[in-house]
Amino acid sequence: MRAIILVVFLALTTSCLAQDNDPNMGIIPAPSSVKKAKGKFMITPETSFLVDAPTQKAAIFLTNYLKKNGYNNTVVNANTMGRKPADVKNALMLLTNFKGNIPEEGYELKISGDQVVINGKGPGLFYGLQTLLQLIKEEKRGYASVPCGVITDAPRFAYRGMHLDVSRHFFSVDFIKKYIDVMAMYKLNNFHWHLTDDQGWRIEIKKYPKLTKVGSIRAQSKVGGYSGNNDGLFDNTSYSGFYTQDEIREVVNYAAERYINIVPEIEMPGHSMAAIAAYPILSCDPSKPYKVGENWGVYTDVYCPTDTTFRILSDILDEVMDLFPGKLIHIGGDECPKDAWKKSAFCQRLIADSALRDENGLQSYFIRRIERHLNASGRKMIGWDEILEGGLAPNADVMSWRGEEGGIAAAQLGHDVVMTPGSAGMYFDHAQSKSNQEPLSIGGFASLAHTYAYDPVPASLTPDQQKHIIGVQANLWTEYIATPAKAEYMLLPRMLALAEVAWSPLSAKNFNEFSARRIPGHLAMLESKGYNYRVPEVMGTSDTTLKGSDFKLELVAPVEGAKVYYTIDGYTPRETDLWYTEPLRITVPAGKAIELQSIIITPAGKRSNITKMTLDNSGK
Ligand code: ACM
Repeated sequence: MRAIILVVFLALTTSCLAQDNDPNMGIIPAPSSVKKAKGKFMITPETSFLVDAPTQKAAIFLTNYLKKNGYNNTVVNANTMGRKPADVKNALMLLTNFKGNIPEEGYELKISGDQVVINGKGPGLFYGLQTLLQLIKEEKRGYASVPCGVITDAPRFAYRGMHLDVSRHFFSVDFIKKYIDVMAMYKLNNFHWHLTDDQGWRIEIKKYPKLTKVGSIRAQSKVGGYSGNNDGLFDNTSYSGFYTQDEIREVVNYAAERYINIVPEIEMPGHSMAAIAAYPILSCDPSKPYKVGENWGVYTDVYCPTDTTFRILSDILDEVMDLFPGKLIHIGGDECPKDAWKKSAFCQRLIADSALRDENGLQSYFIRRIERHLNASGRKMIGWDEILEGGLAPNADVMSWRGEEGGIAAAQLGHDVVMTPGSAGMYFDHAQSKSNQEPLSIGGFASLAHTYAYDPVPASLTPDQQKHIIGVQANLWTEYIATPAKAEYMLLPRMLALAEVAWSPLSAKNFNEFSARRIPGHLAMLESKGYNYRVPEVMGTSDTTLKGSDFKLELVAPVEGAKVYYTIDGYTPRETDLWYTEPLRITVPAGKAIELQSIIITPAGKRSNITKMTLDNSGK
C-alpha cells in the first residue's frame, strides 16, 4: 500500500514579524481594525520626529528608544517649529491634538510613504507607539522601514493584568523592570506584585523592621515536587531577599512611565507565616515558636483577628498606600484554614459577641475591617474569590481564580471582577505541554492554545452584569520557578496570548494566525531583546504514528531564523544532525518503521522539546 501524506503549513516569510501574510500585520495583540496598504515609509537620518506634547510619556519613550537603538534623529516640538505637522514630508509624528473621537486608551496609526501619524492621548498615544515599534524593521544602523497601512485600535478590557509571586522566589529590581518592559510591549497595564506569603516577606516596612529582618529569610527550601508534609528533601540553604522602599518607589515610577499600575498584594489572614515568624503576636498563640515557611502549600497558622493585629496591619497598609499610588490594594484572602481560629478562645468569643455565623463569618469580619481602613484612605480593596465566603465586603473587587464561579457571583452582586481562572489557562505556573520534557512545575496544564481560547466574559451574566468584568489577568506563582530564565520560560509566549485575550476584540482573534503567522516573528524579536521563552515544537510533525510507505513532510520552525534538525536513526536530534532545508521524502521499506525525531534550535541556541513521529510500514 502506498500512502502519500502531505503536511502543508502556512509559508512563513523572513520579514519583520511575518506581517506580509498576516491580516494583522504581525501585531500582537491583534488590533481592532487593520487596513493594509502597498508601500513603505522609510526612516532615514533625514526623517523628522515630531510631537505636539513633548512631556507625554509616549514622547519621552520615543526619545529614549531612538537613543537606545542607534538613531541620531531628535524628537522635535511640533508647536514651535513654525510649520503644520501635516505639511512636513518624511515625518513621523505623535499627536494629541486631533479631530474626532478616539476611545479611552485607543489610538489611530496611519502609515503612508510620506508620513507616519499616531493620534491618541496619554496611554492611547503610548499604545500607538508600541504598535509602531512592532512594525519597524531595521534595515541598517539609523535606517528602517515601516509597511503602509491604517490601524484603529482600543482595548476590550480596562484591566489587563500580569501577576508575579516574589515571595516563594525573589526576583531582583532589574528583573522586575524587564518584566514590566515586556508587559508594556503587549499593552498590559496592571502588574500584580505578590509581595508577601508564608515563605518570605519581601517589602520593607519601616515601622516593623523584623518583617524583613526575620520574615524575608527562610532557613531552607523544598527540593522537587510538593510532598504535603515536612518529611521530604530540603536544600539546607538559607534563602532571602526583599525590596527597600526606595527600590519600590523606583519600580512604581518605572511602571508608571509605561502606563502600568502596580497592584501590591499584602496577604491576609492566611499565607502569613513569614510575618508571624517575625511578630508572633499576630498569631492566635504567641507562645508557640514560628519559622518562615520552608515547604510549599498552605499553613494552618494565620493572623488572629485581635485589635493588635488590626493595628499592625493598618500601619503596614498605611506604608504600602504611601508607596503605591494606584487605587487597588490587594489583601489576598485566599486559602485561610480556620484551625487556629477554631482552637482560639478569643476567636470563639469574638464570633459569639459579634453575632457572626462561624469562622467564615469571622473571615468576612476580618476582611471588612481591613476594607474600612483602605476605603478611609480613598483606596479600593481587591481580594481572591474566597473573600465572598461568609459575605462579601461592601465595596470590594474580586479576583476569580478558582474557576469563574466566584467572579460570576460577585458580578451578580454588582462588584467589579478580574477573571484569572486557573482552569482556563490563566495560571502560568502550569506546564505548557504534557510532555515529560517540560521542567518541574506545580502540575496542571495550560497550553498556548488553551490560554488563547479564554473569553473572560461569562455568557451566564446579563449585559449589565457583564460590565462588571473589568478585565483579566494571568498569574505566575513561583514555588517551582527559582530563576529569571524559568520565569521567562513560563511567561512567554503565553503572555502574548493573554495580551490578545485582554485587548483584542473577539472578531480579531484567530489562533492559527496568532500561532503560525504572528508568534514566530515575536519570538525572534524577544530573543534579540534577551528574553528566554518556551520554544514551540516543530510544526508539521507531532508525537504520533503515520501508516504508509512513502511520506512527504514539510517541517516549519515556529521561530523566525531558527533551524529544524532531525534524525531517522533513533538518536536524539541536535545541531550535529541533519538540518532540514526542504520537504522530506522518506520511503519506509515493507515490514519496517522509521522514527523521525525533530527539534528546533534558535539562533541563540534555545531548544524546543523533541517530537517523535513514527512512520510505520510494518503492515501491523
Ligand atoms: C491562589 O492561587 N491561591 C490565589
